[in-house]
Amino acid sequence: MARMPIIAGNWKMHNKRAEAEQLAREVVAATAATTDVEIVLCPPFTSLEAVAKAIAGSRVKLGAQNCHFEEKGAFTGEVSVPMLKELGVEYVIIGHSERRQYFAETDAAINRKAQTLYAHGVTPIICVGETLEEREAGRTAEVVSTQVRGCLAGLPADKVAASVIAYEPVWAIGTGRTATKEQAQEVHALIRKLVAEMFTPDVAAALRIQYGGSVKPENARELMSQPDIDGALVGGASLKAESFAGIVNFNK
Ligand code: 13P
Repeated sequence: MARMPIIAGNWKMHNKRAEAEQLAREVVAATAATTDVEIVLCPPFTSLEAVAKAIAGSRVKLGAQNCHFEEKGAFTGEVSVPMLKELGVEYVIIGHSERRQYFAETDAAINRKAQTLYAHGVTPIICVGETLEEREAGRTAEVVSTQVRGCLAGLPADKVAASVIAYEPVWAIGTGRTATKEQAQEVHALIRKLVAEMFTPDVAAALRIQYGGSVKPENARELMSQPDIDGALVGGASLKAESFAGIVNFNK
């Protein structure tokens, strides 16, 4: 089964409303000719509405960078899935390494967030990845497997099949140091094998696995040519329409 590549821009804590709206309009224009790649923009919460307006009527979809696992309640500073859904959000990044590192997000919390997203028909982009220290200690497979098991444990197979996993080696994020296509492919294949074991081979074959970490127009094509790399989660290079479109149009 052919998996449609999915390229998402994670804007992190960048772009106020006017800048966000402008960038989103530029992305729509620069990617209009590409129909064989799914395109997602994940602005900060405060710019979601402006971006929703800018992408209306285009193929570009809206994503958020986090959510809470409860639907409502006394959780000061948090944002719920129904609140995001109301703004047109179709994807939510969960378990990004920056959230794991600075906000103590755990695999168990990510698992609960995925369940809540599924309940509302929103697709999670579940992030996993090892640190440099873990890679150098030869622990990449063990660390990523533990994360995948913890994040996906007990989730419904049909929902997992339609989900997205992003493999983002922490040492490659914002460092300009991209994983080689071989390094990335090795971990992507491992993740797919693990999902086949946890669920079924069909679930693993349908699941899309993005690579993230210093993806640029110059390396996108090479990474995407790997059999188990189904797209990219892009940080820095998603903040300019030209470079983001250069990644989206990797096949052109
Ligand atoms: P960079 O593309 O800036 O390395 O960031 C990757 C990332 O963290 C996307 O979620």
